[in-house]
Amino acid sequence: MLSERLTSYSELTEQKLGELLSESENAPILQESMAYSVFSGGKRIRPALCLAACELCGGTPQDALLAACALEMIHTYSLIHDDLPAMDNDDMRRGKPSNHKAFGEANAILAGDGLLSLAFYALSLCPHPDALTVISKGAFEMVMGQSLDVNSGGDESLLRKLQDYKTGALFRAAVGAGAACAGASLEQREALTRFADAYGMLFQITDDILDFEGEASVLGKSVGKDAEEGKTTFVTIYGLDGAKEFAKQYAREAREAVLSVGGDAAFFAELISYTLTRKS
Ligand code: IPE
Ligand code: IPE
Ligand code: MG
Ligand code: MG
Ligand code: MG
Repeated sequence: MLSERLTSYSELTEQKLGELLSESENAPILQESMAYSVFSGGKRIRPALCLAACELCGGTPQDALLAACALEMIHTYSLIHDDLPAMDNDDMRRGKPSNHKAFGEANAILAGDGLLSLAFYALSLCPHPDALTVISKGAFEMVMGQSLDVNSGGDESLLRKLQDYKTGALFRAAVGAGAACAGASLEQREALTRFADAYGMLFQITDDILDFEGEASVLGKSVGKDAEEGKTTFVTIYGLDGAKEFAKQYAREAREAVLSVGGDAAFFAELISYTLTRKS
């Protein structure tokens, strides 16, 4: 059921993303470089969470589709810039050479800029203004997290805040925007935010674990980069077993929070279980 829902949310999102990216047809390399990273097999978890949150709060996936596309474009831009030599210097992403490896650094910077700008154009077409507010906030918090990450120098006390911003923020934005597009109640929004707080930590801790013990061919990106770049992660501070314990604890918190929204939260529960044991 999880994979069927993810596939149907992805198909919906990808069709609309194709329409939005056609705005760049007068700049062929920009269009090609944006499409290269957007249509390269990401898991599409942020748009799925946005559409699922909208449904859980009584809306339809169509109600939140522009917000879902905006989130995936902002996420993809963050990955393109994250991989640049000046940041994580990663050569592989989503199973292919990173954007700057394929198009050069200048075009990769512009592909990121283009996706971010197009995301806000998409949001300007979305009839629910709160979606714009929560996604702008999430996009900015993600950048704050990336800043803490590149300047952290192994500071343990910053780790949670850094991970919450760089990764949790876009998950909060995803469920917050989905809820806004459904006209959700304050209680529903608060419960979904609690879910995203915990799910974001779960997601980044499992990302850190996979960087340590995952397989590049399954993951679609390089492994061992955090150690190489001297990054502080849950694995470096608490060890592999400690990190896995924290992941379980955040999975429990995420489950409890989403069940308190009310309605059929089976998709969210399955996504949490999948994330806890994910290999990619
Ligand atoms: C990778 O996110 C970056 C992090 C925030 C850890 P995903 O693991 O969701 O990447 P894609 O979208 O599936 O490529
Ligand atoms: C990046 O975290 C989170 C972003 C905002 C892009 P990482 O640097 O750990 O992500 P990966 O491992 O390169 O996907
Ligand atoms: Mg990074
Ligand atoms: Mg990285
Ligand atoms: Mg990582």
